Parts: sequence; structure tokens; C-alpha cells
Amino acid sequence: METRKDIYTAAALETIESTEWDFIGAKTQQHLHSLHSYPARMIPQIPRKAILDYTKEGDLVLDPFAGCGTTLLEAILLGRDVIGVDSNPVACLISNAKIASYTPEDFAILKNFLEQLDHMLLDKNCKPSIPVYKNMEYWFAKDAIEELGKIKSCIYTLPNPCRILALCCLSAIIVRVSYQTSDTKYARKESEYLPGTSVKNFKAKLTSAIAHAEEISTAKRGDAKVLSLDGRRLEGIKDNSVKLIVTSPPYLNAYDYHKYHRHRMQWIDGDVAFARDREIGKHDTFTRKGATPEPYFADMELCFREWYRVLQKGGLCLVVIGDAIVSGQPVAVADTFITQMQKIGMHCERRWIRHLDINKKSFNQQSRIKKEHVILFRKN
Ligand SMILES: C[S@@+](CC[C@H](N)C(=O)[O-])C[C@H]1O[C@@H](n2cnc3c(N)ncnc32)[C@H](O)[C@@H]1O
Repeated sequence: METRKDIYTAAALETIESTEWDFIGAKTQQHLHSLHSYPARMIPQIPRKAILDYTKEGDLVLDPFAGCGTTLLEAILLGRDVIGVDSNPVACLISNAKIASYTPEDFAILKNFLEQLDHMLLDKNCKPSIPVYKNMEYWFAKDAIEELGKIKSCIYTLPNPCRILALCCLSAIIVRVSYQTSDTKYARKESEYLPGTSVKNFKAKLTSAIAHAEEISTAKRGDAKVLSLDGRRLEGIKDNSVKLIVTSPPYLNAYDYHKYHRHRMQWIDGDVAFARDREIGKHDTFTRKGATPEPYFADMELCFREWYRVLQKGGLCLVVIGDAIVSGQPVAVADTFITQMQKIGMHCERRWIRHLDINKKSFNQQSRIKKEHVILFRKN
């Protein structure tokens, strides 16, 4: 049986194995990029390089699979306007927290909130705001549920955008204080819960988030918008308006964002069914007996047609994607994307193979994905 390594070896024969997009050893968690973990997030250096190389100030950039808002944050800090689209409410929350313009008054409110939090939590009028969903007690210790519920109630006393940042910090600590094994494993592993852990983690997270948001608060910025949408229909984005698309679409058969983020979605009152039913490429679907990759490519083609519609003539699109295995068979995802894009009028200008930084803590040592494709398209 061919392995994932073999797919890349085959692809490398036709493409340039290059270090241009590798950025090995680069700092990838600067300022607000460290706000919230996110499976398969892009390193910021990729959108930064693409935006600098292919756009100028004032141009509109789009990430139609925005995830944790890496492209959005890079774009606004480079003075570009940007739109991010994602169907997952956790992705939209993180993106909104990253692009918000926090004023000195907002920082004062947030710091005061941190100072007052212990007092607010002890107040007998502080009623925990606990989501109701199946098996919640199976995934959280009783004390964790009570603490998270009270923190959430306190967060809802804040005005926006302070509330968004604080809610994002709550989301960031959810997996760590639950019995879920990890961000990319939906399995239960019971461990002792020390009362106070959620409060301690939340306060630490919010403290560092405030400091990181302050670091970039005076930077000149472009405008940004986050749309909670299905990427197959980019409603509200005008025809021929976008100069550059930079994105890493969902990897075929690699993740289940709706599952890994399930508890987070509940705690932030996100629409779980919307995210689950729209997620493209999910592991759940493509690990079924007899699964084939066709439905994934059919979904992606709908997305590509929308990208073509919103891109300006001559506009560019940089896609970062990995190949896959479905039902034991290798799937050359990048090659198929190129064929599909060409069919709808998007010319493949260049392609590269980039190497992932295996020394990074975030890199999954178990994963066989050590390389991925970077493809640049132009709208004819
Ligand atoms: C590889 S991740 C993108 C990561 C992002 N580049 C970052 O740096 O965080 C793919 C994203 O596609 C989103 N997604 C999957 N299906 C979608 C759909 N139908 N519409 C919009 N977003 C979708 C997932 O929620 C996930 O956030």
C-alpha cells in the first residue's frame, strides 16, 4: 500500500521542492497569534509573505476558511482590508477577538474585570451560566462546570469588544480543564480536578491576551470583517472585489472541527449543528467503510466557483493543502485542485512543496503529514 510519503514523492517529480514557504525556526506565536489553539492553523509567515508579495495597502484580502484568523490578523497589521469566512463558531469567535480594535478604555475595563473577578465569583448573586447538553458531566468535573459557569456569567457583564476577548479566553481553556484528551483527540481521560483550576487558567489566559492585544493596539490597521457562513456560498461578498485569497482549506479526512471544538461551541453558545452539518472534508465522513474522496472535491468545486466570482480579474489565490488517504488509497488533493481550478478559469501560476517544522511543539509527531503543497492561482 502506498503511504502518504509516496504521494509527496510522486508530486515532487513535477513540482519544486522548495524552502521558500518553510520558515523553519520562525516565531509563530507572536502577540495575538497565541490567543487560542487551533488544529491545522497556518503559520502567520505564510499569509504575511503572500500579502506583502501580491497586494498593496488598501487591497481586499479574503480567507474563505479563516479558522483562528491568522490571515485576518496579518492582513490588518499590514494595512489591508480583509474578510474571513468560517462555519465554525469557535473560529469566528477567535477571529473576531483578534481583529477587534481595543481602545485604552477597553484595556482599563478588562484589567478592572480581572482585579474584581474573584470578588464577583464569590458574590451570592453570581449564578452560573451552564449550557445544557448531553453527557456534559461525563466530560467535566462538577467543580469545573460550576467554575466555568460562573466565569461565563461574569464575562456577560462586559461590553464588547471586551466580552469577545474574555469569551475567547474562556473557550481557550475549555479542553484543558475538561476530561477531553487533547485538542485533536475526542476521547475521555479522567484526571483529578483541583478546585480553582478553571479560574486560575482563565485569569492567566486573559492576562496574557490583554498584554498581547496591547502590544499591537497602536498599529495602523486595515478594516476586517468575519462572516459566519458556509464557504460554498459567500453571500455578501461582492463580485470581482477581492485582490488576494490566502487560505488553507479543510484537509481531506484529517480533522473533525465540530468534534474537537464540541465543548467549546457549547460553552460559547455556538451553533453546533450549523458547524457540524457544513464541515467539509471531515474525518467522520471519510473514515466510513467504502468512502471515496469525490464528495470532498464536489464541495471544494462549489467553493472554487465562489472564489472565482469574488476575485478581481488577474486576482491571485494562494492555497496551502495536504494530500490524503481515503479508504486506504492515496489521494493527490493538490493535483486534483489544480485540475478543478483550471476548469473554472483559474490558472496555476506556480506550485511549491513546503516542509513542516517538526521541531515545533504544535507539530503532531504521530502525524504522517510532514510536507504540504502551496499553490498559486491567477484568475484569467
Ligand atoms: C485548515 S482550517 C483553516 C485554518 C486557518 N488557516 C488558520 O490559520 O487558523 C479549515 C477551516 O475550514 C472550516 N470549514 C470547514 N468546512 C467549512 C465550510 N463549509 N464553510 C466554511 N468553513 C468551513 C473549518 O471550520 C476550519 O476552521
